[in-house]
Amino acid sequence: MNFTSDNTHIIAEPILNAILKSNKSSVTSYGGDEITKKAKEKICDLFGVDAEIFFVTSGTAANALSISSVTPPYGSVFCHNESHIHLEECGAPEFFSGGCKLIPIKGFAGKISLEGFQNAINDHPSDKYDFKPSCLSITQSTECGTIYNEKEVNELSSLAHKYNIKVHMDGARFANAISTLKIKPSKITWEAGIDIMSFGTTKNGTMSAEAIIVFNKKISKDMNLRIKRSGHLLSKMRFLSVQMDSYITDNLWINLADKSNSMANYMYQKLLSVKYIDMPWKVEANEIFVILPKEIERKLSKQDVLYHKWSKVGIKDLALNKDKEFIRLVTSYNTKKDEIDQFVAILNNIN
Ligand SMILES: Cc1ncc(COP(=O)(O)O)c(C=O)c1O
Repeated sequence: MNFTSDNTHIIAEPILNAILKSNKSSVTSYGGDEITKKAKEKICDLFGVDAEIFFVTSGTAANALSISSVTPPYGSVFCHNESHIHLEECGAPEFFSGGCKLIPIKGFAGKISLEGFQNAINDHPSDKYDFKPSCLSITQSTECGTIYNEKEVNELSSLAHKYNIKVHMDGARFANAISTLKIKPSKITWEAGIDIMSFGTTKNGTMSAEAIIVFNKKISKDMNLRIKRSGHLLSKMRFLSVQMDSYITDNLWINLADKSNSMANYMYQKLLSVKYIDMPWKVEANEIFVILPKEIERKLSKQDVLYHKWSKVGIKDLALNKDKEFIRLVTSYNTKKDEIDQFVAILNNIN
């Protein structure tokens, strides 16, 4: 049983078949092909907007390139102190922007509050030799598996724009958020003030395909050059584009995310009855966070079940007791109820 990450799972079959189907004859390279053109049009239709779209192969590249396009070397990026861009991208946003500063903000369950953001702006004004406030990056769904609603995104974006700060959304798990929110993608992105977004698909069924969606066209200038310069312009682009096309065709992306989220919810409900564990917040997407006694975790780690120990800065505050361990469990479209039943049975039998 593997609950470490949605990244560990197989490619969804329709997407694999679409790659195979596109493996015929020769086409123009570097994205000048018809498959790429069509995939971009479909994404614009999905978001109900005429946006600029660029495809890259990793979420880190999508984030770093997006952020660098709105942040000069002397600019700052406000983000959550648990965010992937802050903790798990090896300084890519700083590197790609030529030296920007990330300003991490604490907030419950992976979310930046309006007050937290305002305080961070106040603490880092643009009128001194501080970095120039340039970007706010929020993650949807968050690194804690929680979700920003429409009102929250609107409020954060409005505050950012008041200070001439652009808003980036890390949508590595955007499908999981839409599956829960059940709203049109536009409502929680460009209509809510998002300027640029990393639209992730790899965690939810593709082999490797992430889109940079630039809603605010004033900032898409030279994005292609940025992508090429960073070594992320794929020569055989059609095989990436066809994944994107297949991902959003016939609502596949939402169907996959629905399965993934429903498995997380199933696990959450089952775990509520395990006596010695705590879950610090309700599951909203496909990640479950569990606090359990260290001794139990030690025994669990010897079983046939994989998960990540979670010991990141902010969340760790919740598990202050040093006899406790904090773990993350992630479900995917390929998680089976049986596996969850087995996992819960293991937990119930450990003592
Ligand atoms: C929130 C978030 N953003 C972005 C990424 C991008 O990851 P990668 O560069 O591995 O595709 C991840 C992957 O774990 C993530 O969890």
